[in-house]
Amino acid sequence: MLGFILTTFLVGLTQGTLHHLVVGTVNGGSLYSLELDDAARTVTLLKNNSAAGASPSLALYQNKLYLYGIQASDATLSKYSVEQDYSINLQGTLELPEACGTRNFKSAKISPGPLNPYNIFGSASTGNCSTVFTTTRSGDYTFQSKDIVGDIRSLAWSSSGRHLYALDFKTNHILNYNIPDDPKLDDLVDIALLTNVTNPRQIVTHPVGHRIYVVTQDSNELLDIPVLQSDLMGTNVTAFRFNVLPSSLANSDYTTQSVAVSASNTTLWTLSRSYGMSVISAFSLDKTTGAVVKPIVRASWRDYSASLDSFIAPAPVGGDLIAITNSPQGVTAFIELQGTGLKSYPRLDLGQDLGEGLWLN
Ligand SMILES: *[C@@H]1O[C@H](CO)[C@@H](O)[C@H](O)[C@H]1NC(C)=O
Ligand SMILES: *[C@@H]1O[C@H](CO)[C@@H](O)[C@H](O)[C@H]1NC(C)=O
Ligand SMILES: *[C@@H]1O[C@H](CO)[C@@H](O)[C@H](O)[C@H]1NC(C)=O
Ligand SMILES: *[C@@H]1O[C@H](CO)[C@@H](O)[C@H](O)[C@H]1NC(C)=O
Ligand SMILES: *[C@@H]1O[C@H](CO)[C@@H](O)[C@H](O)[C@H]1NC(C)=O
Repeated sequence: MLGFILTTFLVGLTQGTLHHLVVGTVNGGSLYSLELDDAARTVTLLKNNSAAGASPSLALYQNKLYLYGIQASDATLSKYSVEQDYSINLQGTLELPEACGTRNFKSAKISPGPLNPYNIFGSASTGNCSTVFTTTRSGDYTFQSKDIVGDIRSLAWSSSGRHLYALDFKTNHILNYNIPDDPKLDDLVDIALLTNVTNPRQIVTHPVGHRIYVVTQDSNELLDIPVLQSDLMGTNVTAFRFNVLPSSLANSDYTTQSVAVSASNTTLWTLSRSYGMSVISAFSLDKTTGAVVKPIVRASWRDYSASLDSFIAPAPVGGDLIAITNSPQGVTAFIELQGTGLKSYPRLDLGQDLGEGLWLN
């Protein structure tokens, strides 16, 4: 009997997996290492690492031994090592390339290149003018695009890894860069207009379907855009459109800034916020084509934040687990889709305006 209980206990233990997430801040100087135990359903703050500065956008290098944080206000990109105990140590800091003769940036993003040479790609925007750039792992040299008259706020990779899509919040275009083995960002193959769209806020792609998804900030719409097998789009893009919010909520009260596809490849998430309430919505996707099928579940919570910036980070480990940072302000929350229901883990309040979450495992 005792043997049976012990065995059950051990099996229970080995089934649990530990996952780790790094979260940066918008104004502070910390990079937080969080641990999530999916069997015990606990979330703990493992390390409060000191960073070079704020790191609202983060990128993990391909070998997972380094991560990068970008900060618009001081126009820097910092490189950190990820240690075995999940401490994060600063390795060096690089100045961002200028755009339109200035480094007076209002926002910046980074994204790891999915193919060899695994450069880090980024964008920086003054609000009127932007640049897209790439650096090697060591940050030795930087190539950048021509100045872009517009406000690039979001980047995404085509499923082949050969095209980088940059979303312009101001002029409602998607810029499509061809990325060869020696990326120099000098091969802009499409400048596609999103017709009848304003304030497109974030772009993501489906990992296998040739599909782009965009959320619009003010009209709270989800755009589902098929792209050609070649990753090209043409000049004018017509999207399938979905309302993110139910008709019972007033669109004008909400902004939608975040969209993500979870590792199952069959669920898309959007997060919409007002001063008072946040709404997470999950849509089902066709596993092969990535086409949005239908909304499957929504949940809401009270939210009293000073800013409405928030981020969804899908866990890299199968399934439909996501981390939401900064909704409400300072909080990291974990939500999982199970069937057509949502399960949540305890939340961790870090007491600071948070940036993107980055999963290490
Ligand atoms: C855009 O440019 C104009 C003039 O060049 C400037 O006055 C304005 O502040 C800029 N807006 C942003 C958001 O940078
Ligand atoms: C433009 O988009 C709005 C929703 O944002 C929609 O109501 C309207 O019908 C669209 N107009 C055209 C011409 O597609
Ligand atoms: C694309 O849309 C713009 C604005 O609606 C229009 O002026 C232009 O002619 C269109 N281009 C093509 C190739 O359809
Ligand atoms: C989702 O797509 C990626 C990229 O092809 C693949 O590696 C992964 O196994 C897929 N996930 C599932 C759950 O099928
Ligand atoms: C992390 O450390 C910084 C610097 O010491 C401190 O200001 C901040 O409050 C700490 N964060 C938490 C959640 O304890």
